[in-house]
Amino acid sequence: MIARIAVATTVGFLGWAYLALLKPPSPKVCGSPDGPPVTSRRVKLNDGRCVAYKEGGVAKEKAKHKIIIIHGFDSSKDLMLPISQDLIQELEIYVLQYDRAGYGESDPHPKRSVKSEAFDVEELADKLQLGPKFYVVGLSMGAYSAWSCLKYIPNRLAGVALVVPFVNYWWPCYPAKLSKQALRKMLPQDQRTFRIAHYAPWLVHWWMNQKWFHALSMLEGNMAIFCPPDLEMLKQLSSAPSPGQEKVRQQGEFECLYRDLIVGFGNWDFFPTDITNPFPDNEGSVHLWQGHDDRIIPRELNRYLAEKLPWIQYHEVPNAGHLLMHNASYCETILRKLCTS
Ligand SMILES: *[C@@H]1O[C@H](CO)[C@@H](O)[C@H](O)[C@H]1NC(C)=O
Repeated sequence: MIARIAVATTVGFLGWAYLALLKPPSPKVCGSPDGPPVTSRRVKLNDGRCVAYKEGGVAKEKAKHKIIIIHGFDSSKDLMLPISQDLIQELEIYVLQYDRAGYGESDPHPKRSVKSEAFDVEELADKLQLGPKFYVVGLSMGAYSAWSCLKYIPNRLAGVALVVPFVNYWWPCYPAKLSKQALRKMLPQDQRTFRIAHYAPWLVHWWMNQKWFHALSMLEGNMAIFCPPDLEMLKQLSSAPSPGQEKVRQQGEFECLYRDLIVGFGNWDFFPTDITNPFPDNEGSVHLWQGHDDRIIPRELNRYLAEKLPWIQYHEVPNAGHLLMHNASYCETILRKLCTS
């Protein structure tokens, strides 16, 4: 009898804890009765989800280079990059930016995975009739989608730039000591957050919302994650804030930010070192750009991948940090290399 009461009480408590603390709230989907309005162009994917996008540069019918830019963590298709008109005209570039699932005005994808990100890119490109091949630029966290494209849709790629790309400390392709040391260089609160995302994804919603411990430094506005070149860049960026920033998380943090952490730091079906050269006949190129001073992405881990993957052109930029792509001169160099090598 007592055992039964104990069991019932425990089950009741766990049920309450799940509902009250652990279960993320439902997202406020754009265009639904209590959700934010749809204000951007969107395409509907085959599974019914809508993806919001924004086009720039020359018309896609005339473009020589069609580039899909994949945004990072806590960002969106409205991310403004310093791509000059001169460069656009010279290289005849068309630029497509889109909101990854759950961000901005793109519907959440509760089954989002590393793999689903590549097929979102492919389907979006096909619905917009970009043709058989396109370039992909993956920024920071958005690099996991770019790795996914290299793995799952290599025949659709004209070239790839991984810019200050995200790393997963649990990819087994790293020597254990190397990834452990790299993780220890992060702020303790970030180490904890990444470990929770990896080992206990069901705790992420609670962890990110509790008030006893510091969770992710970036979301607290902790400046310790920025190196001097990044701080310099931030000063410049703050004078001209990106429009659309308020829409990034409007559907709720879980389906954009937290799912990024869970998917990115989770167990992958493949690792970068499993990927074979997508351009064996040199018909395109893959670049990895790493700021030497980046404190958000430890350079040792990306340098290691580049050593293991000789088909990747590795560029470690001195006196640069995580905000590399926001510097007009690096941004130009990155796009130029992508389109012309
Ligand atoms: C951008 O990079 C150049 C070097 O290529 C550097 O001289 C300049 O200071 C950087 N700009 C900012 C705002 O960091």
